[in-house]
Order: sequence, then C-alpha cells, then structure tokens
Amino acid sequence: MSTPKQFTITGKDGKPLTTAGHNKNGFDSQVSIDALRALWLTPNYTNNEQDKDASVVHPDGTISYTSLNRFPAVKLLPPAQQKRILITGGAGFLGSHLVDRLMLLGHQVTVLDNFFTGAKTTVSHWIGHPNFELVRHDVVNPYMTECDQIYHLACPASPPHYQYNSIKTVKTSFLGTLNMLGLAKRTKARFLIASTSEVYGDPEVHPQTEEYWGNVNPIGPRACYDEGKRVAETLTYGYQNQNNVDVRVVRIFNTYGPRMNPFDGRVVSNFIVQALKGEDLTVYGDGKQTRSFQFVHDLVDGMILLMNSDETRPTNVGSSDEFTIGEFAELVREIVEKVQEEDGSKPAKQCKVIYKPIPVDDPKQRRADTSRAKESLGWETRWSVRMGLEEMVRYYKAKLDEGNL
Ligand SMILES: NC(=O)c1ccc[n+]([C@@H]2O[C@H](COP(=O)([O-])OP(=O)(O)OC[C@H]3O[C@@H](n4cnc5c(N)ncnc54)[C@H](O)[C@@H]3O)[C@@H](O)[C@H]2O)c1
Repeated sequence: MSTPKQFTITGKDGKPLTTAGHNKNGFDSQVSIDALRALWLTPNYTNNEQDKDASVVHPDGTISYTSLNRFPAVKLLPPAQQKRILITGGAGFLGSHLVDRLMLLGHQVTVLDNFFTGAKTTVSHWIGHPNFELVRHDVVNPYMTECDQIYHLACPASPPHYQYNSIKTVKTSFLGTLNMLGLAKRTKARFLIASTSEVYGDPEVHPQTEEYWGNVNPIGPRACYDEGKRVAETLTYGYQNQNNVDVRVVRIFNTYGPRMNPFDGRVVSNFIVQALKGEDLTVYGDGKQTRSFQFVHDLVDGMILLMNSDETRPTNVGSSDEFTIGEFAELVREIVEKVQEEDGSKPAKQCKVIYKPIPVDDPKQRRADTSRAKESLGWETRWSVRMGLEEMVRYYKAKLDEGNL
C-alpha cells in the first residue's frame, strides 16, 4: 500500500490541527487526522504485481482483491474500557467515519447495514479485524445482540435515495427505530438516533434552535424523510418516558466529507465533481438560498460527545457559517482550481456557474443554532468550510485519477 501524502491543516485559530475528537466526560475520542485520512485517501489496491500487500488492478481492467495482512493500528484498550458498539447504517457516508473513529479508539464495533446506499467498500479496511463485525441486515426487521451503545443511523439521507421508495423510507424510520429502541430496552444500551435538521422543514425562524417545532409539509415529496425522522424522535422519547431507555438525539445539519456518494444530488458533491470534470456548476434557483455545511470530523466529534454526555434533549450539531449556494459554487470552483494547480493539472478553460429551476419544497434558508451543543457538550466546529472542502476535493480528485469516479 502506498503512503498517503501528508497535508498540514491550519485550524480556524491559525494553529495546526492534527487530531479530531475530544477527551471529555471520561471518554477519549481523540485520534490523529493523518490516521483517519489514510483510511480513505490511500487505495488498498495497486497496479504493481510485486506489491503483495495490496489488491492488484490488471491492465485489462480486472481487479484481484486480497485481504489486508495487517490492519490499521488501533488503541489497545483494557477489556473493561472496551465498549460493544452497534452502528446501524455504518456502511454509509457518516456511519463509516464513526466506525473508523471508534475502531481506531479500540472499541468493538458491529455494523448493521442493508447496503441500500452504503457499501462494503467504505469499511472494507476493517473486515476481518477481531474488533469488527459487518452484518447485512435490514433494520425494519428485529435484530438481537448484546451491546453497550447503539448509534442508529440507518436511513437513506439524500432526496433521490429517500424518495426512490418513500414507503420504505417511512418504514425504515419508524420500524427501524422501533426495533433498535426495543434492543436498547432489553440490553440497557444507551441509544443515539441520527435525526436531522429536516425536522424543522422550511423554517420560519432563523437560526433554528431545538425549541422550534418546525414547518413541515406532511404530504410533500420530502415528507417520507422529514416526517419519518419526526416520528422516530417521538418514539425515542416514548421509550425514554415509558421504559427508561437512555436516549440521545442528535439533529444533524448538512454534513460533507470524503466517502460522500458523488452522484446523490447533494450540492457539495455535485459542485466538486462538476468542477473536477471541467463541467459547468449547476445552481438550482437564483443561488440566494443559504446553507451551512459542516465537515464530517466535526459531526463525529459531536455525536461521540453527545453519546457520552448527560444531555438527553435533542441537540443540533451543525455549522453556523452561512453561505448562499451561489457563493458556495464560487468557493468550490476556487478550491478545485487551487488543488489542480498544486499538481499541475489545472485545465485552461474555467467552468461556469449556471442556474436551473428550484425543486419543490426546497428550504430557502437553514442554519443551526448550536448554543446547546456548545454549552452542554463543549462542542464547536473546528473545520472551516474552506479547510473541509480542500480535504474533500483531494479525495474526489484521487478517485477521479484512479478512474473510480
Ligand atoms: N449526511 C447528512 O448531511 C445528514 C444530515 C442529517 C441527518 N443525517 C442522517 O444521518 C444518517 C446517515 O446519513 P448518511 O449521509 O451517512 O447517509 P447514507 O445514505 O450514506 O447512509 C445511510 C446508511 O444506512 C443504510 N440503510 C438504509 N436503510 C437501511 C435499512 N432499512 N436497514 C439497514 N441499513 C439501511 C444504507 O445502506 C447506508 O449505509 C441518516 O440517518 C441520515 O438521516 C445525515
């Protein structure tokens, strides 16, 4: 396996940022950013037949996979400190980053996933590791295991995926959450659900605090997801109130980062892929609608902090740096050009930003009020959009260079 290039990251405070995670509430979630990056930036395959460690891509476009003969180094935890952690949807974009973090920290991780939008490849570097288990399972069906913590993320998250079969999306949100809460009740595991800023719908208050009840169209094209997550929260607090299940609810705002599906229609991946391929960047609407984007390491920090804190109220985790979509397109174009310039691949022609009609029920403005996360978890974003985008552009560029995008 080749060693990934090292990049120095300067944090928002102007100092080098070398680790992700925190050491708070008796739970140390700090790991090196280089170790995390190595898990997504280094392909575990090569075109060199001599490299016995890696899978080999042959000249005829076929690939011979090999299992890794040495796994990434994980912390050696005494058994009493090692938690048994179940992650539903762990083969998806966010789940796989949570898996990486908890594995590097030395815990025992089981992933449940039906691979609807996730893939084995996102966690392939852990398959066979004694601390890791990957189970193909659909959460609409019950699952029995013993565990200490459950992170429940299973649910398609991008509009084309959750609208593909809206009834299944509602079933996943409702029955999936019901089953996992039942498991938490039996095992006395702490349960954290990945809820969403979409519970606020098209909000009438800005920024959105957790007290805001939302403005959701119950029969619109996004309802299967928005209402699904709302009822999942209702169930979660039902189990807390009636059955004393120890619950945590994180309301996640737009998150981006490596391993995000490049073709799922989300704005960050759309813009980067378009710019890397030299295509025009498509903005839907007049580009004045705003979004805030957080980098995946910040989100994982927030989820782990919340899971290991005493905060049981819903907690927003997201960025409050607001950008208009138009500004964002310009920023992506600039960063893609910078990264291309670094390795001498900048094309002569600059891509254009073009505008198309806005989809139904697209929220005009969405921004997290994260005062609660700051006060009760001591959480704040460490990654600016610019820092995260550079990381993301390098990831997609590596995929493109490998012929894998
Ligand atoms: N990415 C974001 O910006 C964002 C924002 C708000 C909330 N969330 C929430 O975070 C969670 C993860 O989102 P993501 O961006 O990683 O999405 P993703 O689509 O990449 O991951 C979802 C994972 O769940 C799996 N899954 C879907 N239905 C399942 C089922 N019935 N049984 C078992 N597995 C199933 C998929 O195969 C996939 O691996 C979701 O619950 C989503 O609602 C994400």
